[in-house]
Amino acid sequence: MINDFEQAGNCNSNLYFDNAATSWPKPEAVYKAPEIQMRQGCGNPGRSGHTRTLEADRLVYRAREAVAGLFRVADPSRIIFALNATDALNIALKGCLGKGDHVLYTSMEHNSVLRPLGTLRRDGVITTTLIPCSETGFPDLDFLEEAYRADTRLLVINHASNVTGTIAPLQKMIQSAHRRGVMVLLDAAQTAGTIEIDTGALELDLLAFTGHKGLLGPTGTGGLYVKKGLNLKPLREGGTGSQSEIDLHPESMPERLEAGTLNNAGLAGLIEGLAFIEQTGIAAIREHEVEIRAYLYQQLQAISGIRLYGPADPGSASCIVSFTLDNTDCGEIGYILENNYGILCRTGLHCAPLAHKAIHTFPTGTVRLSPGYFTTRADIDYLTGALRDIAKLAAG
Ligand SMILES: Cc1ncc(COP(=O)(O)O)c(C=O)c1O
Repeated sequence: MINDFEQAGNCNSNLYFDNAATSWPKPEAVYKAPEIQMRQGCGNPGRSGHTRTLEADRLVYRAREAVAGLFRVADPSRIIFALNATDALNIALKGCLGKGDHVLYTSMEHNSVLRPLGTLRRDGVITTTLIPCSETGFPDLDFLEEAYRADTRLLVINHASNVTGTIAPLQKMIQSAHRRGVMVLLDAAQTAGTIEIDTGALELDLLAFTGHKGLLGPTGTGGLYVKKGLNLKPLREGGTGSQSEIDLHPESMPERLEAGTLNNAGLAGLIEGLAFIEQTGIAAIREHEVEIRAYLYQQLQAISGIRLYGPADPGSASCIVSFTLDNTDCGEIGYILENNYGILCRTGLHCAPLAHKAIHTFPTGTVRLSPGYFTTRADIDYLTGALRDIAKLAAG
């Protein structure tokens, strides 16, 4: 498999502009830690009393502590691990919503929110109201103020759009929900690790994160923060290694929401991603991403035929720029970028169809460029040079 990849890929020579899908490159230690864990520390946490198990236990605890530290959560047991943000969002939505609940959500949500909500709505469990967003992706706060009902239980907020990068006015939205006693679930898939999130100061109820994007960890990692006092119904039940004598799933956290063997190898990598973020500092990561997005936006703006979506102000967006080129199919641009220039990006709807309706790019979508902490100005010069060639050809 590794040989196939090396032969087919020459992956290292590609210029990567798809960090919103999954981040690359990772810090060197992230590649190494899973292998070390599997070779030397391979035990099943909580399942026996031997050395390897205890080591695996400690590893999981360190991962929990590191995530708790990042999100300023005092009690690490309120962090549970899941497969990814999608899994965490499903655990949150299906665990907190019940018959008759009303849910508010925005046009910028990803399918990992839209689809579980759609199923709950179709099955007659919940009703929902969509908060429309502007052409640059900002939720209509006046509409939100009027949308609450007596049965509203939850407001779902997309922290930063994976289509436009637009950062939601988090504090205002949370305060608005809490004034009515409505819980808030934050989808931080695009911001964890790159934008500061203080769950305590924000008084967040639920926060879903993924490990393989801004946290720089391996795929197959992610999780959910659950505020103290909030008891979600478990989506999965089974072995936890604790209270094996009882025939119902344990109620204590984190076991309550974690059934089955955890992804220790992935968590070993995630710890290293988090360590890199701590050493570098989120402020420094954010500063680089703001600077690089501003440069990219400015370079693209100068190319005739290119239309940009999302906020012009880099301080109001994560490190994403979406664009279309007049009279040119987005998929074709992606194809040419990869095949003629070795540049990787994402084209189409990016699993967020309502966001494209808001910015008027449905159903054809956009070309999404998502640089990351390791992207340089020289990378952007090469990319924009390629796009200038493509735009010239398209203009005939
Ligand atoms: C805003 C948003 N939410 C959720 C997800 C799902 O993340 P994951 O692929 O880790 O399940 C993504 C992934 O692109 C996303 O961008």
